[in-house]
Amino acid sequence: MMVPTNGAIAHEALHNGDSRHGAGRLIVMSNRAPIRIVREHGQERVEPTVGGVGSTFLRLLERHGGTWIAWSGGPRSPEPLTMPPGGEPRFRIVFAPLVEQDISDYYYGMCNRALWPLMHLMIPRSHFSRQHWQRYERVNRAFAEIAVREAQPGDLLWVQDFHLAMVPRFVRERRADLPIGIFWHVPFPPEQLLRILPWREEFIAGMLGADLIGFHTHSYATHFLNCCEGVMGLRIDRRRGEVAVGSRRVRVGAFPLGIPADFFADLAAGERVRARVTRIRRAIGTPTVILGVDRLDYTKGILERIHGYERFLEQHPQWRRRVTLVLIAVPSRTKVSDYAILKRELDELVGNVVGRFSSEGWTPLRYLYTQFGAEELVAYYAAADIALLTPLRDGMNLVAKEFVAAHLDDGGVLILSEFAGAAEELSEALMVNPYSVDQLADRIYQAVEMDAAERVRRFGAMRAKVHANNLEVWSGSFLDALDTAAGARLDDAVETSV
Ligand code: UDP
Ligand code: G6P
Repeated sequence: MMVPTNGAIAHEALHNGDSRHGAGRLIVMSNRAPIRIVREHGQERVEPTVGGVGSTFLRLLERHGGTWIAWSGGPRSPEPLTMPPGGEPRFRIVFAPLVEQDISDYYYGMCNRALWPLMHLMIPRSHFSRQHWQRYERVNRAFAEIAVREAQPGDLLWVQDFHLAMVPRFVRERRADLPIGIFWHVPFPPEQLLRILPWREEFIAGMLGADLIGFHTHSYATHFLNCCEGVMGLRIDRRRGEVAVGSRRVRVGAFPLGIPADFFADLAAGERVRARVTRIRRAIGTPTVILGVDRLDYTKGILERIHGYERFLEQHPQWRRRVTLVLIAVPSRTKVSDYAILKRELDELVGNVVGRFSSEGWTPLRYLYTQFGAEELVAYYAAADIALLTPLRDGMNLVAKEFVAAHLDDGGVLILSEFAGAAEELSEALMVNPYSVDQLADRIYQAVEMDAAERVRRFGAMRAKVHANNLEVWSGSFLDALDTAAGARLDDAVETSV
């Protein structure tokens, strides 16, 4: 016997404009909240956080409402907050309580010193500790508890990223009714590397509690399927993208994340941003501006980028005084030693390049160690002629897509690492292997010399793609697939019980 599936869930979750309890509410869960509460001189204010997950779901929930379960960013868990603060409520944030020991062992330890480098294929940087793993499980259980408490029948849970791999299983143990999806915002390593994780079986089993597991690219999804087969001994169907877990079938697929392209384009077209662009260009002063924007992270290839730029200036002295590299580096995970070391190395390298090449009235490199809001960032995107984004490994790299959306004339050039997930879609970018200093220098030269017709051809094609697979399309396709997967599971469960 078939029962009606919850076919309306995805639709309602996305089109339910408020954050009321009721059928089809979207519950998003991530470690990082889109905002942090800063206390200064006895006053509290709300600041945005930086990172792909935060910026994506902030825009999504602003538009569609729902509930967001996340960590507050500190050892205090404030009361649930309606967003935007002081404005008409669009969605609610429920904070997961993390004590100091959780922050140190789960967030800094397991997430940032073990899983982050492992997912990015940087094995020598991975440190494994059983104590960190146990905290990871505990914190994941605590997040799961909140979801179990929050979720009403008919709601849908969408878990984000590698911090919360165990949540789908912990929630599934308690709530067979709930559609659960997890989206992986970082790369997923090949089986041989994932095997390094001492708790690999538990980790994968945790993810397999979901109905749908989404990755940015086909190769990450394939790596995951290989792990299910090779590490877990499970039966997989590569063609359909399915894993058999007991009587359940878990769907695995590629859903390249889309950005709110109109939001960036509209911001860039606004008067305030245009005025700011003029000010930025005037202050920089060279006819050509190259831009890099990243969290200060060793996966982003920032040092490599500067070495490439230095080689370009060495090899093409005619370009000196005519070009400036602007580096925006956002402080990130500063308590992790690898990040603190990178900061020192970056400061030193920037100093060397500036000292070596600067001449009267020209600074070859401007380095901004700060976090910008959307408006300022968009002004930099629009002011730059070339974006130079050189991650050594990156799940997607949203900055690449944002640059394309915000640069309104087709005269821009994107130089993009072949190791960024975005390279699969943005194939008209100038691709670079960031491990090759010579190739970096060559690509910069190719970009500054590129004729207008080629710029327009490449940039126009990329802009069309960024608008076609935007945030709405992406989230809609993930939620539709989740709806189908969860519906099929519930149908199967009913069929076997009659
Ligand atoms: N970002 C920001 N302010 C900044 C620099 C970056 O808000 O000063 C945002 C940027 O708009 C993007 C995100 O941070 O949405 C970075 O995402 P990406 O995927 O490029 O890298 P991640 O930090 O997630 O590894
Ligand atoms: C990456 C991760 C996100 C994370 C962000 C910022 O984009 O995929 O999950 O939120 O980096 O890092 P943080 O450690 O500050 O949350």
